[in-house]
Amino acid sequence: MRKPTILVAREVFPEVLVKLQQHFEVTSNQDDTIFTPEQLREKLQGKAGVFTTGSERIDAALLAACPELKICANMAVGFNNFDVDAMTAKRVLGTNTPDVLTDTTADFGFALLLAAARRMAESEHFLRAGKWNRWTFDMFAGAEVHGSTLGILGMGRIGQGIAKRGHHGFGMKVVYHNRSRLDAATEAACGASWVSKAELLATSDHLVLVLPYSKEAHHIIGAAELAQMKPTATLVNIARGGIVDDAALAAALRNGTIAAAGLDVYEGEPKVHPDLLALSNVVLSPHIASATIPTRLAMANLAADNLIGYLVRGEPLTPLNPQVLAG
Ligand code: DGY
Repeated sequence: MRKPTILVAREVFPEVLVKLQQHFEVTSNQDDTIFTPEQLREKLQGKAGVFTTGSERIDAALLAACPELKICANMAVGFNNFDVDAMTAKRVLGTNTPDVLTDTTADFGFALLLAAARRMAESEHFLRAGKWNRWTFDMFAGAEVHGSTLGILGMGRIGQGIAKRGHHGFGMKVVYHNRSRLDAATEAACGASWVSKAELLATSDHLVLVLPYSKEAHHIIGAAELAQMKPTATLVNIARGGIVDDAALAAALRNGTIAAAGLDVYEGEPKVHPDLLALSNVVLSPHIASATIPTRLAMANLAADNLIGYLVRGEPLTPLNPQVLAG
């Protein structure tokens, strides 16, 4: 029997490709070309499955042009590149990669918080530029992290990971805002209390954004919200670009509305707002919060196992729209 055909839309670990080749006729992209929507549509002709990353947009127009497509397996926990409603309407399954990246991403969120609050990037640039000629009592004095108030917007698995690090590791008071409140046992394990969004903004010394992107979350942090934060506060975004209004954030950092920021994601990335690039009180990283080799390998394997699970056995591991499976 002919193996199902799939497209792996970006470069992946060779061992993951070998695993996929055992089950499928694979069209790979080890040159790592970023396909235009037209190229993606063309490459997907006749394919039953696609291994995607955040750079491939799966929408109604693409689905209409690829009637044989049955599954899109994203190598990411976020799936804002998928129009899940359009996929469900066409009975195309979507899958993502939850859990395997939780701790790695939470580690990085904390690293950005520390780097921004304690001015690590700014002071390193100063040193490398040969400007360090003497120690001074207040040189690059930053914000205290231990014992301060950690705010978290979005309290899923990664948010809880950040909360635990702050509470258990740094003795922080943890407050969070989320549409749904955690149960008491989970709140206790995270040392976290639910507060309104207004209270979160007003009381956080360090605010970490970990909510998924949605239309409702677009620019959920803009000029008005930044104005409600402490002038000494740090903002960290490891969620998705578009959640923060980057232009408003740059203005807030420039004007001293807040003290510092750490960003891993950007509106329109890989482009970064030029005003952010010009500021020294923001630490900028290129969407690498989940980037350790073991974690990226686990993410790639989970995406591959979703393709194998669904196309070979009819049982995906982490479906986003399980209603597609029901009959
Ligand atoms: C994720 O898994 O969503 C990360 O942002 C990598 O894209």
